[in-house]
Amino acid sequence: MYGMINEGIRAFILKHHDKETWEAICQKASVGDQQFDGMKSYDDGITYQLVGAISEHTGLSSGEVLTKFGSHWVDYAGESRFGNLMKVAGDSFLERLNGLDDMHARIQLSMPNLKPPSFKLEEVADRTYRLHYFSQRTGLDSMVVGLLYGMAEETGEKIKVNQVAEKSDTVDHSVFEIAIVN
Ligand code: HEM
Repeated sequence: MYGMINEGIRAFILKHHDKETWEAICQKASVGDQQFDGMKSYDDGITYQLVGAISEHTGLSSGEVLTKFGSHWVDYAGESRFGNLMKVAGDSFLERLNGLDDMHARIQLSMPNLKPPSFKLEEVADRTYRLHYFSQRTGLDSMVVGLLYGMAEETGEKIKVNQVAEKSDTVDHSVFEIAIVN
């Protein structure tokens, strides 16, 4: 994944802990670099190893770490040079959700090796939606949950998210049910 993700993880740890904690996490993860070039592509394994080491260090499950990181990412990426791309889709949660594929496609112009996720939104009842999440990767569903809550917080909306399908050998993508509650 692009170094920007690993830098986001570093910023996430430094926000809640100190530099020594980050060094210990990198050591536990057997990750040599403790800083990353945001615009360079790194092996996905580094990101997963960092999440695993944070989980060991904090006692949170990897899923909990990913959910917390997902929410943090909305702030972190929102303050980056790409932040505006998230906001141009609109001011509401649903507009931004519908704009995610275009947003990642624009980011891909600057990050040619990006393997972006893809989302499809389906309305299933009044203020209830099903979000289909397609990825070349596995194991990031919990991050999506955090990203969704982070996006809703930024647009001042309240949501409830439930995962209703998980990508596996027989299911090609994960699905989340999202209820807008205010
Ligand atoms: C300005 C805001 C954002 C930026 C700059 C950004 C950028 C990125 C980057 C660089 C990656 C790594 C992909 C790779 O290296 O192959 C990524 C992955 C991802 N992004 Fe975004 N992103 C933003 C907002 C969001 C939001 C709001 C969501 C909400 C769902 C989202 C969902 C994801 C997911 C799920 C992945 C994991 C990749 C995968 O599923 O395979 N991103 N994004």
